[in-house]
Amino acid sequence: MQEFREITDWIASQEHTFHRIPKVSSLPSPEFECEGRTMVSFSSNNYLALAHDPRMIAAAKKGLDLFSVANCESRLLGGDMDIYLDLEQALAKIKGKETALLYATGYLTNIGVLSALPNSGLLPRAYGFRPSKRRRYMYFTDEFNHTSIREGISLSGIPKVMYRHCDLEDLRKKLQAAPDVCKIIVSDGVFSMDGDIAPLPELIDLAEEFDATLYIDDAHGTGVLGATGGGITEHFGVNSPRLISMGTLSKAYGAIGGFIATEQYIADTLRFTSSAFGFTSTMPPDQVLAVSMALHIIKTEPQRREKLWANQRYFVNQVEALGMDLVSKETCIVPVLIGDEQRCEEYAYLLSQRGYHVDSIIYPAVKRGKARLRFNINAHHTKAHIDGLVTILAENRSAPLQMTA
Ligand SMILES: Cc1ncc(COP(=O)(O)O)c(C=O)c1O
Repeated sequence: MQEFREITDWIASQEHTFHRIPKVSSLPSPEFECEGRTMVSFSSNNYLALAHDPRMIAAAKKGLDLFSVANCESRLLGGDMDIYLDLEQALAKIKGKETALLYATGYLTNIGVLSALPNSGLLPRAYGFRPSKRRRYMYFTDEFNHTSIREGISLSGIPKVMYRHCDLEDLRKKLQAAPDVCKIIVSDGVFSMDGDIAPLPELIDLAEEFDATLYIDDAHGTGVLGATGGGITEHFGVNSPRLISMGTLSKAYGAIGGFIATEQYIADTLRFTSSAFGFTSTMPPDQVLAVSMALHIIKTEPQRREKLWANQRYFVNQVEALGMDLVSKETCIVPVLIGDEQRCEEYAYLLSQRGYHVDSIIYPAVKRGKARLRFNINAHHTKAHIDGLVTILAENRSAPLQMTA
């Protein structure tokens, strides 16, 4: 473990760069207390400002009163409650699917589903199930997909082919080059480091043409994209029985948990074959009631989403006017390309010194030389928050950063 000490010593020597986890004493709304200072967060995924809403807190408290703190086991072993089944049906409806399956987090959802999808036949076989034909599977995955997707695919042990980011021609060539396998195409809906949106209609077309399953991680689109917050499918007005829609409850929905919305036969199989459903504890009941409240608020208060998008447009216009290089401007993840890793880290540090918490995204999260500041816009940002941030960006747009700010 000597190497661990060397690593931690090295990290400590990096002063204001590299990730020291700051101590915070409150959570962003979007202001929060950090080491004796009030900061504004442009890092949180609390897009619709629901995490602090008193109705969400009351719903979570009701969950605690009614059902206690936690299940302390999985639903597979411990039994089901209507609150889980009702939430699954509500999420399925939003995604235009037959049913849904809840997991404890979004990360676990990707791990749990992607590791199990192509291996689901194994467990039933141990109990005597005999498939009509042995099948070989292959994953086709966008090079910029989220880490949890990459890890879920690795865990499956199934061969994977990586296609260039949102490059449909590259994907087509790779699908063509793999006859006689069951193909599963996997893509983020909104890419978490780039903020751009996957070309869902074309992905569905390819899935149909090549008889493939399509898995879309809509973590950053759910609740945000589409006229009613239905996510990427509503944004494009498309859907397909081939599509498995994954979502997380930890971003626009302001709580914690994850899910897939899918056809009934897939959910019913995974309930039995996905270890991250059956071999780990369930999302706690207070979170289930909080998310149910979030769905109600999102449905009845469209003005939240309107405010979010107004903030996004206001911020994008200001940053564009500064001549800064936006990686994308389609969603509430607005990355500004800095390029050099060190400069990006120093930029984030400077912003933090001036009271703004912004993510510095560097290699290996993105390619070398493509470091960026990632701004997450939320509905509760005020004009003053955005103006204050933009003022600092304007002062440092090309001049050397003043680390003593
Ligand atoms: C694209 C994507 N998928 C999945 C996750 C994991 O979601 P959760 O934080 O709910 O575990 C994240 C989290 O940042 C994400 O950005």
